[in-house]
Amino acid sequence: MKILLLGSTGQVGWELNRTFLTLGELVALDYPQIDMADPDSIRLVVQEVKPNLIVNATAYTNVDKAEIEPELAMAINGTGPGILAQEAKKLGAGLLHYSTDYVFDGTKGSSYTEEDQPNPINVYGETKLAGEEAVQIVGGTYLIFRTSWVYSLRRPCFVTKVLEWARKNDALSIVDDQISNPTWARMLAEVTSQIIAQGQAQPEDYIKEKTGLYHLTSGNSCNRYEWAKEILALDPMASEQLAHEIQPAKTIDFPTPAVRPLYSVLNCRKYQECFNIPLIGWEKSLSLALDV
Ligand SMILES: NC(=O)c1ccc[n+]([C@@H]2O[C@H](COP(=O)([O-])OP(=O)(O)OC[C@H]3O[C@@H](n4cnc5c(N)ncnc54)[C@H](OP(=O)(O)O)[C@@H]3O)[C@@H](O)[C@H]2O)c1
Repeated sequence: MKILLLGSTGQVGWELNRTFLTLGELVALDYPQIDMADPDSIRLVVQEVKPNLIVNATAYTNVDKAEIEPELAMAINGTGPGILAQEAKKLGAGLLHYSTDYVFDGTKGSSYTEEDQPNPINVYGETKLAGEEAVQIVGGTYLIFRTSWVYSLRRPCFVTKVLEWARKNDALSIVDDQISNPTWARMLAEVTSQIIAQGQAQPEDYIKEKTGLYHLTSGNSCNRYEWAKEILALDPMASEQLAHEIQPAKTIDFPTPAVRPLYSVLNCRKYQECFNIPLIGWEKSLSLALDV
């Protein structure tokens, strides 16, 4: 099997680049070797590499900046995945693509299933939804995994920001009204690899059989305040923390350029029934991620 991995230096892509090593021949690229905002660049790379499977871990993920760069975000997140899907279909290859809980508006009040109607409330969510739709409309063989609150220690993310804030401030205020599933990039990569390994003998046939949209996150959920408290409790260098106090706060008190959905917990039952690979709770994943 020949895998083309795109976005190999991102949070998820960096982990995929390691977990894919034993799966077959791997071509791992990132910007500028491929520019997901440029359809010609995408076509050229896929036609040169001729993979059996394309894994797209690229994305424009700066949620606030997307509000002021909507065209670029749409090109990378919305249009690019559709071009990838067209090229994959021409080759008879499978496409594995990631999307986000931010396709939902967060008002449902219980966990979202794949049947729920998306209704993005920020540009990032709109562009990621456009990408899902672009992949689906091509009608090839694909897996789309919607995930949420992805973190790794390698790049700035909520976990690294909380650790940093706690070293600079006496007290922290963290919102307790945003609720979702903190998902460790390594866990997502390992599950993705196991799924690919399940179909390794016939990757195109396997993905054809499973083609669809799935929710795939850690096995449970929490609010950002609970998450931050656990990050500080598990901090391997806790003696460096200045913060003696962590207070719950409300999203309304921290205005940001992009509005965030408040309750975007994803229900992963469809994934569990289809792939039968257990999901790890967010506390366990976090303790492993911070055990450095
Ligand atoms: N992060 C989250 O909280 C979160 C939540 C839900 C879903 N997701 C989804 O999960 C997937 C992986 O996200 P992640 O957190 O691993 O993202 P990430 O760390 O931001 O990585 C994205 C990768 O895409 C690359 N990229 C950006 N623009 C590109 C372009 N024009 N052409 C080619 N590559 C480009 C980035 O390169 P540079 O570093 O050079 O820009 C980076 O390597 C994405 O589909 C994302 O939407 C993420």
